[in-house]
Amino acid sequence: MSSLENEISRRRTFAIISHPDAGKTTLTEKLLLFGGAIHVAGAVKSNKIKKTATSDWMEIEKQRGISVATSVMGFNYGDYKINILDTPGHQDFAEDTYRTLTAVDSVIIVVDVAKGVETQTRKLMEVCRMRNTPVIIFVNKLDREGRDPFEIMDELESELKIEVRPLTWPINIGASFKGVYNIYERGIDLFTPDKQHVTERVEIDDINDAQIDEVIGSRDAAQLRADIELIDGVYPEFEVNEYLAGRVAPVFFGSALNTFGVKELLDTFVRIAPSPRHVEATERVVEPTEEKFTGFVFKIHANMDPNHRSCIAFVKVCSGVFHRGENYYHVRSGKSYRFSAPTAFMAQKKEIIDEVYPGDIVGLPDNGIFKIGDTLTEGEQLHFHGLPSFSPEMFKYIENADPMKAKQLQRGIEQLMDEGVAQMFVNQFNGRKIIGTVGQLQFEVIQYRLLHEYGAQCRWEPLSLYKACWIESDDEEALQAFKRRKHQFMALDIEGRDVFMADSSYVLQMAQQDFPSIKFHFTSEF
Ligand code: G4P
Repeated sequence: MSSLENEISRRRTFAIISHPDAGKTTLTEKLLLFGGAIHVAGAVKSNKIKKTATSDWMEIEKQRGISVATSVMGFNYGDYKINILDTPGHQDFAEDTYRTLTAVDSVIIVVDVAKGVETQTRKLMEVCRMRNTPVIIFVNKLDREGRDPFEIMDELESELKIEVRPLTWPINIGASFKGVYNIYERGIDLFTPDKQHVTERVEIDDINDAQIDEVIGSRDAAQLRADIELIDGVYPEFEVNEYLAGRVAPVFFGSALNTFGVKELLDTFVRIAPSPRHVEATERVVEPTEEKFTGFVFKIHANMDPNHRSCIAFVKVCSGVFHRGENYYHVRSGKSYRFSAPTAFMAQKKEIIDEVYPGDIVGLPDNGIFKIGDTLTEGEQLHFHGLPSFSPEMFKYIENADPMKAKQLQRGIEQLMDEGVAQMFVNQFNGRKIIGTVGQLQFEVIQYRLLHEYGAQCRWEPLSLYKACWIESDDEEALQAFKRRKHQFMALDIEGRDVFMADSSYVLQMAQQDFPSIKFHFTSEF
């Protein structure tokens, strides 16, 4: 194996996703603990990690205590190099999470055993399904009263629309939770409610081993045997290839807070989760083992210091090796750039790095070069597929509240849109700018950042719209006729594409009926 192949095969780049409060932060903390990236379990209060410099660079985030930022935590675990891409928990920043999912090779989903599958998890899973991303599910909080595990398994399957296979099985739940049976490794992991303690494993021969009765009592042993018999009958054996194809999700049970089931999850994860795989570009498929460097920007982040407006572009390396100080081709602008201070993301610190391998994320200082989705190569014309923009849910007109600062406002809006903070549309009838978001909080973030980073003041004016639809048609005449008829509701997106701003679902329905040759899309790529 060449050294490049070796570096690729030991990398695991993934995101943990969940509905807020299911335990994503706690699980992340425990994984960092196993990687030696932090040292005392439980010492970092679960939500606090969101407030450290590692995963939170923005003043606004500190103020609100909501993880607006997405950052990367890299660490070594045995022979593996692990990169966890953190995602904001708040649903108003869902777009941020969607984009981060374009840069991961797999995903761990955390589900609360009492709450089951919640809305945010369902949405994020849809994005995983679009990309066939392999997922592992961790059912958390077994130390609390929760639902019947069979019921949870059924719900995971029907709500997340993926086949599931339990790899561990809980012995009771809540106050009488005794641990899990490891179905494939044939062992019982005994639960001790202790945040510092790592699981005690009792090896057994098979499910009929009398030792089981000794360690968990005959009544629970009988129940476990009945459960396992049922599992054997219901679920086919777990096949790694089915998981890698995104068709089957292995399921683990545990308690992140008690560090229970976390090491088992991590050990199985590094064994079965994919190392960086090929990435599709418009022109061709790119293999990570190719010698030449390619990568794309999936995130742009404002730097900590608002006085020096500078950003960091997060680039996922897709192939070859990125070298510090070398010239790389920025496909969109057709220009070459040298990066003399690229940063690596190791948990809790950023450091300058000389070489970056596929699967890793490199941070490039950016003063306005990059937009989300930009591709970097050694000269090849290549465009990696990003994730389409989804139609926003909320719309407002943005107006200048300080006439002396019109230029700053213009520049600020443009840069924030390039960062992907929200989407902008320009109404072709009145020339007004419309900002579309998925949540109210994004408007507040924009207003705050315009003021603090650009010295510009904006004002929002209400606008009641139902959806933004990207339109297209083979019938140019019909398209022109439609645009004339709806001229008050026609806008251009940032790329100059035609967008119909429907003000109600009824209006949209009528438009679809009246103009059958026009296609209305709810995402920007079709
Ligand atoms: P999130 O990032 O997905 O939003 O969830 P987070 O890890 O912050 O966890 C949400 C709450 O659930 C936290 O409690 C956390 O301690 C708790 N929790 C996480 N895993 C487990 C578990 O396995 N068992 C139990 N019983 N609780 C768990 P909190 O009260 O919101 O915060 P804190 O004051 O405990 O830090």
